[in-house]
Amino acid sequence: MCGIIGYTGPLQARDIILLGLSQLEYRGYDSAGLALLTDEGNLYLRKTVGQVSRLKELCREAVSSHCGIGHTRWAKHGGVTEANAHPHQVGRVILLHNGIIENYHTIQKQYGFEGLATSETDTEVAAQLINYYYDRTNDPRQAIRRALNIIEGSFAFCILFSDIPGTIFAVRNVSPMVAAATEQGSFIASDVTALIPYTKTYFVVPEYHILMLRDRSICLEDPEGNTVEPELLSVSWDVEAAQKNGYPHFMLKEIFEQPEAFRKTVQPRLRDGIPCFEAEKIPDSLLSGCRQVQIIACGTAMYAGMVGRAILEQKVRIPVTVSIASEFRYDTPMIDSDTLVIVISQSGETIDTLAALRLARECGAPIISIVNVKGSSIARESDYVIYTHAGPEIAVASTKAYMVQLAVLYLLTGRMMVARRLTSEEEIRAFTEHLVASADSIQEMLDVIPDQVRIQAERIAFSENAFFIGRGLDYAFSLEGALKLKEISYIHAEAYAAGELKHGTIALIEKDVPVIALATQDKVFSKTISNVREVRARDAYVILITKKGASVSDEVCDVHLEVPVEDGFFAAFPCAVILQLLAYYTAYARGYDMDKPRNLAKSVTVE
Ligand code: G6P
Repeated sequence: MCGIIGYTGPLQARDIILLGLSQLEYRGYDSAGLALLTDEGNLYLRKTVGQVSRLKELCREAVSSHCGIGHTRWAKHGGVTEANAHPHQVGRVILLHNGIIENYHTIQKQYGFEGLATSETDTEVAAQLINYYYDRTNDPRQAIRRALNIIEGSFAFCILFSDIPGTIFAVRNVSPMVAAATEQGSFIASDVTALIPYTKTYFVVPEYHILMLRDRSICLEDPEGNTVEPELLSVSWDVEAAQKNGYPHFMLKEIFEQPEAFRKTVQPRLRDGIPCFEAEKIPDSLLSGCRQVQIIACGTAMYAGMVGRAILEQKVRIPVTVSIASEFRYDTPMIDSDTLVIVISQSGETIDTLAALRLARECGAPIISIVNVKGSSIARESDYVIYTHAGPEIAVASTKAYMVQLAVLYLLTGRMMVARRLTSEEEIRAFTEHLVASADSIQEMLDVIPDQVRIQAERIAFSENAFFIGRGLDYAFSLEGALKLKEISYIHAEAYAAGELKHGTIALIEKDVPVIALATQDKVFSKTISNVREVRARDAYVILITKKGASVSDEVCDVHLEVPVEDGFFAAFPCAVILQLLAYYTAYARGYDMDKPRNLAKSVTVE
């Protein structure tokens, strides 16, 4: 949520900032701005409503600068206006921000800043406060520290002082920020994607530490003012991974990257054909000793958790609760040290998920997180981390990250079966074989299904509503299918347990309403087909998804799509491909930019 980039060094800051902003645009894209300290000692500040491309247009004139900061915004406080875009300048302070300052109103009143503001943002108050103390101390670090004693909330600030050329100051609490000092200069950004063109080595700025970036060097101070060495991390992917590479959209590219991401995530966790988490140091005693499992996540990651619940309960016979993180964090959790908590997050920075994790820790529960971004807050605060190897996911709508979250949940299920002695060696090997073969079923779908799905997408593209139905595991898959469709095509979509439909929702079924019915589970196949007949009888337009070879009579559906699996337990993977492509092509047919859906942001770092 909100992209930040800062640069100081020998290169032209404007070019680096504009490139960085376009790489970070998936974090927010309603307005953008940059501030440069020019070589002549002036401030060059440009802001605009709209996407980074508009900012580029605005910054065409000749300017030479080697130090600057830039921001792409996802509006929180105050509407989408040029005045509300960052950076904000107050006196000698130029500041940009990702997060929320909770007590901004109190600060305004207490310091008499009311009436002086030029924007409606909480951010401007931080600039006012730091400027207030800078005027009194003439010491940038003291000014920042004194402001930090007062500011409450989550924040990542990048700050320039107009009379301190060549230096960027930065500090954060909760909101993410990473930095690197390289031969090409010093960089700071809200995530590592923007640093990759320059370096693969970076560090996460520790909370409440003040970072000073100068040309090719950095200085990090802890809250007491002691200089500390940053803890360096490295990324394993390179710059191509964060580019479209010939695909029209990141989302499509990421859908097509799924077989590889799946293999990279699964293969290293197999020992002699058996799932194994030795490298993550997850002891079998943890998996065998727990009495219940609590899964916590948001959005797509939460829907991966819903599949996790279905497979764990089926194979491990353990009670599993899936909680939406934003609810869990304000609930009275019924968990203790006998509960295994599984936290799922692509970014590792979702603020609600992080807060829920902290609450779960307070309850004494051991925590395994399934995270895509190395060194992220959720990864660092968990007892054990299982990294998914999806590489950077840029499209706001999650696809490949979901796929590999599922893969890890299947691996964990397999390992729990082993740890709890619920399986013979033969059975677990067969389980693993099916899992490994899922990479092929994903690939097969990608090879054969896109055209069929595109035709269906064009058929449903101008519907107002769509329903996804299924039972058991199919219901869990449907939830993500409906989310995907609504978030990028803006068609109202609901997932429903097929058997529950007639208790209300069937009232919404009328002629031509699309119903995407999943019936891949043998146990409930005929029951789901009966539900499909019920909506067909009311003239719904039915797209039915079954296992290959399932016997389906022609009058049951309008279109029949098949997934190449023998065992419906592993249908999650190819089904996900169909549902993702359906959402993608529907958004395409409606003419929307599915990489930047309205009102959404990739990484939600505010409550
Ligand atoms: C946002 C994104 C979703 C994502 C959710 C959770 O809403 O748009 O794609 O599923 O956050 O994000 P996380 O990074 O925790 O998986």
